[in-house]
Amino acid sequence: MDRRRFVTATTVGLGLAALRPAIAASGKESAARGQSRVIIDTDPGVDDAFALLLAMCSSQLHIEAITAVAGNVPLELTLPNALRMVEIAGRTDIPVAAGARAPLLRRLVTAAYAHGENGLGGAVFAEPKRTPVAESAADLIQKIVRKYPGEITLITLGPQTNIATALNADPGLAPLVRSVVMMGGSLSGGNITPAAEFNVYVDPEAARIVFQSGIPITMVGLDVTRKTTLTDQHVATLAAHDNPVSQAAALIGRNSLAHHRAQGLPSGPNMHDSVAVAAFLDPAIVTTEPFYVDVETGGELTAGETLGYRVPHAPPQPPVRGSAPLLGSLKSSPILRERPEPNAHVALDLDAAAFFELLIGRLSAGA
Ligand code: RIB
Ligand code: CA
Repeated sequence: MDRRRFVTATTVGLGLAALRPAIAASGKESAARGQSRVIIDTDPGVDDAFALLLAMCSSQLHIEAITAVAGNVPLELTLPNALRMVEIAGRTDIPVAAGARAPLLRRLVTAAYAHGENGLGGAVFAEPKRTPVAESAADLIQKIVRKYPGEITLITLGPQTNIATALNADPGLAPLVRSVVMMGGSLSGGNITPAAEFNVYVDPEAARIVFQSGIPITMVGLDVTRKTTLTDQHVATLAAHDNPVSQAAALIGRNSLAHHRAQGLPSGPNMHDSVAVAAFLDPAIVTTEPFYVDVETGGELTAGETLGYRVPHAPPQPPVRGSAPLLGSLKSSPILRERPEPNAHVALDLDAAAFFELLIGRLSAGA
């Protein structure tokens, strides 16, 4: 079966489970010691680096694995950058796996203009000594989810290619995943195009598979992450603390701010990915509402756009309308879905002060 038909078949075949509040499912009754078991999928990436360090400095998380994916920069850089963060945090107990070098059906588009050619804003660290595990990211995700059915939250910080690959390879996997907390999407316009947020833009087919998987989803998109610009003051605070995590974050932050200025970008980097981790650590930091979210995969200009349909508490329930059928189409109606069920809790507001207090406080304290 060719890849396009495989992806389509998987998408159509996956049912929508009743939506459970993904964040509310975080935590208390899962792993022993009151920790929440998570897998972090990432494309470091300046903000991914901050998010990984935040997660590794947070004792509420039992990080079962970190899986690298191509995105901000190619996998040849995102994988060693993930290994570097694990070494800096002294968390070489966490297995790191290599994932997809490219999206499911598209050529890879990177964001080196924003993250620097090395993915860390130009900040230079030693080559990692750690090596990745032998399993691929998708295989490791399947193995861990099946080892801990109902306990694993997938925190996705990059294009969702690895997650979709795991779901495609194991159609029985989705009901065993506790939840997905994604940095991805936007209901208020994109960042790489006016329509699309970068992670979903890079692999819209993968994102659609995740949104239609039935797994409880919290979508932490640009609607809230735009409020998290790193400043010189944040960097000064990090630099004033003498531990490897704080010093590394300060170095990456300082280089990234300089890179943004050199590129003529209006402000420093947003801490997009750390908001997803923070929202899992402390759900009160974000305000969410239930939506039916679908992903544009056909647009010439809009591929990767996430469209949110608010589901009203009482009728009338607006249907999901697609584009007007072309004359040559057999379809006579644009209706795609009569009564959309919510499939994601979308973050619409953020307590930015509480967020930065958590982020800078945890990183300053170190692992
Ligand atoms: O659009 C922001 C997202 O794209 C973040 O995850 C950033 O790291 C990039 O991957
Ligand atoms: Ca990222």
